[in-house]
Amino acid sequence: MLAGVAEAIARERGWISFARYMELALHGPGGYYTGPAPKLGARGDFVTAPELGSLFGRTLARQVRPFARILEIGAGSGALAEVLLKETGCEYWILETSPSLRALQQQRLGARARWLDELPRGFRGALIANEVLDAMPVHAVAWRDAGVMERGVALQHGKLVWEEREATAGLRDAAQEIPVPAPYESEIGLIGQAWMRSLGEVLEEGVALIIDYGFPREEYYHPQRSGGTLMCHHRHRAHGDVFARPGEEDLTAHVDFSALAGAARAGGLEVLGYATLAQFLVNCGITEVLAEANVENALHYAPLAAEAQKLLSPAEMGELFKVLAVGRGVAAPLAGFARGDRSHTL
Ligand SMILES: C[S@@+](CC[C@H](N)C(=O)[O-])C[C@H]1O[C@@H](n2cnc3c(N)ncnc32)[C@H](O)[C@@H]1O
Repeated sequence: MLAGVAEAIARERGWISFARYMELALHGPGGYYTGPAPKLGARGDFVTAPELGSLFGRTLARQVRPFARILEIGAGSGALAEVLLKETGCEYWILETSPSLRALQQQRLGARARWLDELPRGFRGALIANEVLDAMPVHAVAWRDAGVMERGVALQHGKLVWEEREATAGLRDAAQEIPVPAPYESEIGLIGQAWMRSLGEVLEEGVALIIDYGFPREEYYHPQRSGGTLMCHHRHRAHGDVFARPGEEDLTAHVDFSALAGAARAGGLEVLGYATLAQFLVNCGITEVLAEANVENALHYAPLAAEAQKLLSPAEMGELFKVLAVGRGVAAPLAGFARGDRSHTL
């Protein structure tokens, strides 16, 4: 049991919101992203697109190259930064909340990047957040016949258990805007939404690319998805027991892209595009990047082809992962959304 969680429950007289639990389990003292254990890649718990190889980064570079500066949020092992620095020559800034990952990035990238302690104001360039929004704490909600309840965490005989309380006014209002058939349980990403709204003050001119797994609202809160989207990742196995190993494994929720787009608009930004990862990468020219490789050299080509398959296949990352672009003052249309832009579904 993570000491911070037990202490918080005791301090809050027996109950904390799930968002608070997720915050402590991921980002608190002894939390998953705070500690030094390997997280990304084969030796860790999960593999992200930049960890597969350089194909994702080299293709994304074709979209962000026109911007003079890149701000990457949550840069993980620094794998994407490494490729983008080489491919774009852009100035590179990183905002990373995990001290251990920040140290890893600094070891890898040295003086080639600059690390920030908070979101800047008046940023001009391209902001990238790959698999960051899914790590932001979410509120857990239950729609019951009697009304909206907030699902939180309590201790019973030394074990973490779910316990419902009446939802606070803000959460209730957000939940009541979502038409679902009771009984129904899911998540609402109020913290991620507030973060997206704040980008309105961050981006003076440029684009923010939010890449993550998730759906537009109608699909996210589909009657059949009545158990929500919470998921843990431990040594490349995904499971739904969110109380199993707080602090020792990744804990995520899918992203409601409609809510993120709405929050960005509320912050004064425009939605510039929304597409599946596969469509975005094809639009950016992933096939041309692949064609640069020597097909005759199987040793070189086979891993690239396998990487393309992972990124593009609907059964892997191609469909579930989406790219949302929001921004301000971007004159030319973004190449990544030239075909198959689904902004209208948000
Ligand atoms: C799932 S990892 C993804 C890492 C990397 N982007 C990749 O795709 O390999 C989530 C990353 O986001 C960072 N993170 C989580 N919440 C953050 C926040 N609010 N601000 C900045 N970084 C954050 C984590 O420390 C970690 O580096």
